[in-house]
Amino acid sequence: MSVRGLFIVLEGIDGSGKTTLRDAIRDTLENEGSRTIVTAEPTDGKLGRILREGGTDNQFAEALLFVADRACHTDEIEGYLDQGINVICDRYYASTLAYQSAGSGGPDYGLLVTLNELATVEPDITFLLDIDPAMSMARVEDRGEEKSKFERLEFQRRVRENYLSIAEEKGFIILDATNPREKLLSQSMEHIMEKQR
Ligand code: TYD
Repeated sequence: MSVRGLFIVLEGIDGSGKTTLRDAIRDTLENEGSRTIVTAEPTDGKLGRILREGGTDNQFAEALLFVADRACHTDEIEGYLDQGINVICDRYYASTLAYQSAGSGGPDYGLLVTLNELATVEPDITFLLDIDPAMSMARVEDRGEEKSKFERLEFQRRVRENYLSIAEEKGFIILDATNPREKLLSQSMEHIMEKQR
């Protein structure tokens, strides 16, 4: 039987550099001979596609969709971990806790926690890439992509505050996302190596 893979999650507001760091960690782990796959939420599966195409205006229904997409994704993730493959995921339950509680009229925070508990496994390690939204929004604008409904400055500020308090409660590792890429990679690899021992 193979040793279970490590489940690593990257969280942060839009434009915080999660995907770049995720891919760099994957390359490092693969070079060391550890099989590793990268993935993301919303997924590109059936339910994730509804969210990627703009979701719905009903905030309760939208929160349920994020969690439903995650429930299916968790099954896939567990399959890889059981085969001894590491999984690095761009966003997981903390995204729903941070974003879906940042608007007005969304579902109650306690309910979001309960729903997520039913749809998730606890990651071995979660990194929060923390950045001032004024900087990350500039990065999003530089990409020249159309902004999603979640990418407004005031909203991102609330999401950041939510993330910081979730990180404290759950023991996430907070990284300063303004650090150079190499530094972020070495900082995260130190924590990952500790878990691999
Ligand atoms: P994002 O990771 O930015 O996707 P992409 O790389 O395709 O731009 O996710 C899309 C948006 O969805 C982003 O603004 C955050 C939001 N989101 C939530 O509001 N709740 C969630 O649970 C997840 C996973 C994402």
